[in-house]
Order: sequence, then C-alpha cells, then structure tokens
Amino acid sequence: MTMLFLAPKLKGDSWLKHIRNQDTGIDLRVWPEVGRAEDVIFALCWQHPLGELKKYPNLKCIASLGFGVDHILRDPDLPAGVPVTRLVDPGMIAAMSEYVLAAVLNHTRQFDLYRLDQTQKKWAERIPKRPQDVRVGIMGMGHLGADAALKLRALGFAVAGWSRTAKQVEGVRSFAGDFDLDPFLAQSDILVCLLPLTPATQGILNRRTLSTLPKGAYVVNAARGGHLVEEDLLEAIDKWSGRFKNRSDFIDAAVRDCIARTIREETNARDLVILNDEADRLNEEATDVLPYQVIP
Ligand SMILES: NC(=O)c1ccc[n+]([C@@H]2O[C@H](COP(=O)([O-])OP(=O)(O)OC[C@H]3O[C@@H](n4cnc5c(N)ncnc54)[C@H](OP(=O)(O)O)[C@@H]3O)[C@@H](O)[C@H]2O)c1
Repeated sequence: MTMLFLAPKLKGDSWLKHIRNQDTGIDLRVWPEVGRAEDVIFALCWQHPLGELKKYPNLKCIASLGFGVDHILRDPDLPAGVPVTRLVDPGMIAAMSEYVLAAVLNHTRQFDLYRLDQTQKKWAERIPKRPQDVRVGIMGMGHLGADAALKLRALGFAVAGWSRTAKQVEGVRSFAGDFDLDPFLAQSDILVCLLPLTPATQGILNRRTLSTLPKGAYVVNAARGGHLVEEDLLEAIDKWSGRFKNRSDFIDAAVRDCIARTIREETNARDLVILNDEADRLNEEATDVLPYQVIP
C-alpha cells in the first residue's frame, strides 16, 4: 500500500520511524516527494495545503494526525466520497484533561495572584475558592469533555456538560441541544470549551453566549481558536471597563480590587481569631473571679 505523509507543518521523523517499524511493506512517501499520484491510497494529514488532496485519484482514506478533522474539512476541494478518520488516543485525552485541570485550579487557587505577588516580593495567604462552590460547565462531552468532567468531579467541583445529545456521566449534570445552551451557560462559573470546530460551533464563544455567563465567569477555551470571537471577548471585557480609561486599566483595577478584598477577608478572619482568644481569656478570668463573688 502506498501511504502519503502530508503534514508539512509537522516534524514527521517520529511518525515515519514508527510507521516503518509497524509495517515494512508500506510504501511511505513524504510530501512533496510524492512520485506517481495514482499510487497513493492512504493520506496521513495535518494542515495540508488546500487543494492538494484532489490530486490523488485512487485515495481510499484521509486520516487526521490529530483529534480534530476541521483542518481537513476546511479544504473546499476535498475529494468526495473518501472517508475521513481521526486519532483518539489515551495519551492526548490525559494531556487535555491535565490542561483543563491546570487552568481551572490556577483560577480557583488564585495562582495568578500569587505570581503577581511574587513579582512584588509580597507574601499573602489567599483564600481559595472551594471546588464544591464552583460550577464548571464543559461544552462538548465527547472523549475529551467526559474525561475532564470526571476528573474535575473527583476533585469536588460541581460539573455540568453540554452536548448535542444528552449524556450520562456519573455525577455530571447533562444539558443537551440548543434549547439547553442558555441555562447551561447561566450556571457555568467556569466555562470549558472542548467542542469540535464545525460550522455549528464556529464562533460559539461570542457576545451573546459570553454575556449569558454569570458575572465574573472564567473561560477556558481548550479546543480551537475558531470557537472564540475575539473581538466579542474584548468587547465583553470593555463593557465591564465602564469608568476606566481602557481595558488594561480595568483588568489592572480588577486584580487590585481582588487583592484588596482578599486581604480584607484575611484581616477579618485574623481579627476574629484574636477576638475569640480574648473572649476565651476573659471567660477564664470571669470563672476565676466568680466564686469570690458568691455571697453566702
Ligand atoms: N487544543 C488542542 O490541543 C486539542 C487537542 C485535542 C483535541 N482538540 C479538539 O477537541 C475536539 C473534541 O475532541 P473529542 O475527541 O472530545 O470529540 P468527540 O469525541 O467527537 O466529542 C465531541 C463532543 O462535542 C459535542 N458537539 C459536537 N457538535 C456540537 C454542537 N453543535 N452542539 C453541542 N455539542 C456538540 C458532541 O455531542 P454529541 O456526542 O451529542 O454529538 C460531543 O459530545 C476535537 O475536535 C479537537 O478539535 C484540541
């Protein structure tokens, strides 16, 4: 079988070595050194030059070298009737969940603020958001979404998923279809996007959907850039900028405000401990004194 490695943006050495080890009978050609186009039966693709795939009249399969197939389907000259396949492997599922968990914990444990403190040589203990108080909404409950949902669930987060069809994932609330989108968004303190990029999901993180999230929501787009309408995100931030000169001022002030609020909460908590200790001491003294006050 003649297989074409058509991935000009990838360093293919490792792929090529493993394919050759797997089956020495494969006639492996690496684009652009293709030889006779009629020989090619199988194409392994990652971000191929548009229009290239129509040059192979005997193509029987187009295989994506990643989880997504959007980079293949964007080709307007895709040969009709040739099946398109993709990879699903446990390594990538684990890696994507790691990414999502890191992003969520970075936010709830306030590591951004700690890093900011570090640059200012400050040490201040911060009160993290408790997982059970944080609602994480995952858009796309396929291989990646379901795995991330279960791992977030295991950490105690309140997790919901949104997909085309309802899903049963233990401990995870399911929202399905367009009808459920707004209620799902309205209850997502942290929104994670793990959707495939399709005409239906292109630009799904837009002005309307972002404004449906609860105030102060946090968005993690781990899928594709095409899901996010960047101008709408910046506009949403601008909307909150209000009295500030510009977006940077607003973000700067928001971080300062958050730091000030956390310090206030910590001071209050410390004062409460002091007051309680003092109250205990006074109580002890009162008990010492009381017997002398008893008038027989
Ligand atoms: N950033 C990266 O490095 C990276 C790495 C790997 C993958 N990815 C991206 O992650 C995507 C998801 O991968 P996967 O393996 O989890 O895909 P998958 O198993 O096919 O799951 C896709 C999920 O999205 C839902 N969905 C699709 N279209 C929808 C729509 N219009 N409305 C609501 N829900 C919709 C599906 O719902 P139904 O099940 O009900 O159809 C399904 O739950 C890939 O396509 C890829 O682009 C990114």
